Amino acid sequence: MSDFESNYETVLVDQRDDGATWITFNRPEKRNAMNPTMHYEMVDVLGRLEADDRTRVLIFTGAGNSWVAGQDIEEYFRQQDNDPVSLAASSRASQEWRWRRLWTYPKPTIAMVNGWCFGGGFTQLTACDLAIAADEAKFGLSEVNWGILPGGYVSRAIKEVLGYRDIMRLILTGDPIDGKEAERLGLVNKSVPLAELRDETERLVAKLLEKNSAVLNATKQAYKFVKDMGVLEAEEYLKVKQIALRATDPEKGRDNGTTQFLDDKTYRPGLGSYDR
Ligand code: ACO
Repeated sequence: MSDFESNYETVLVDQRDDGATWITFNRPEKRNAMNPTMHYEMVDVLGRLEADDRTRVLIFTGAGNSWVAGQDIEEYFRQQDNDPVSLAASSRASQEWRWRRLWTYPKPTIAMVNGWCFGGGFTQLTACDLAIAADEAKFGLSEVNWGILPGGYVSRAIKEVLGYRDIMRLILTGDPIDGKEAERLGLVNKSVPLAELRDETERLVAKLLEKNSAVLNATKQAYKFVKDMGVLEAEEYLKVKQIALRATDPEKGRDNGTTQFLDDKTYRPGLGSYDR
């Protein structure tokens, strides 16, 4: 049993021996709506897993028939309406894990969307590197239905994955879409029937676990940092990041890959990974 299990009220952490750690939003009776406790717990979970060598890939899913039904309208909003100090603290925690930490998390992250995904849930959905959904899942920017605008960074985050017309349709109508449409819009990589969701995700996890972790981590971080840089800054950053990766990669991937391709002639980099 891992150290992380059963320590949290709102989150389950299953740290597997193969390097995959499954994080389950665990308030099924409230459709995994995010209350302040969940935000504080997730800041702690992500901080600990970042420093933990046993975790190489993170997968986020939800207990029951929901992924995340947005912010908790009772505990996050109504109960904090007249408590600005509590609201300020929990909203900092909310932003901290869902965007600042997750967007540039130094390990690959996958959202496995098993059911409802509303409002604030789009922030961590977007921040994850990859996303697989169930066809039966329902995604909605439902804020307009409840009388607010998509705040908490949602309106800014979604432009990373969606186009202008689709954003306007989703935020102005509040209409939900299913997994297949989420795939068509590019909100998720792929949508499969719920019965196949776990196997499909496991295949993706296995593919990532086959790779050199140092290279994967540098690759995702480099892209996320350079995408909003100017050309000159991006060139310089990538040059230095490449040097840093080569110097710190514990398994010397580039050297091994080069030898196996050019000297041993045992593999082709275009068709698969070097033998680790
Ligand atoms: N906040 C607080 N409580 C919630 C939330 C939420 N976001 N979502 C569900 N719950 C609670 C319900 O109040 C209910 O509690 P109760 O059993 O104590 O009455 C319980 O979870 C079950 O919810 P139901 O509505 O009965 O479940 P159902 O399966 O019929 O519907 C659905 C699920 C569609 C997710 C519905 O609960 C819903 O629309 N939730 C709100 C989704 C939403 O719009 N979220 C965005 C919030 S705004 C933001 O995130 C910034």
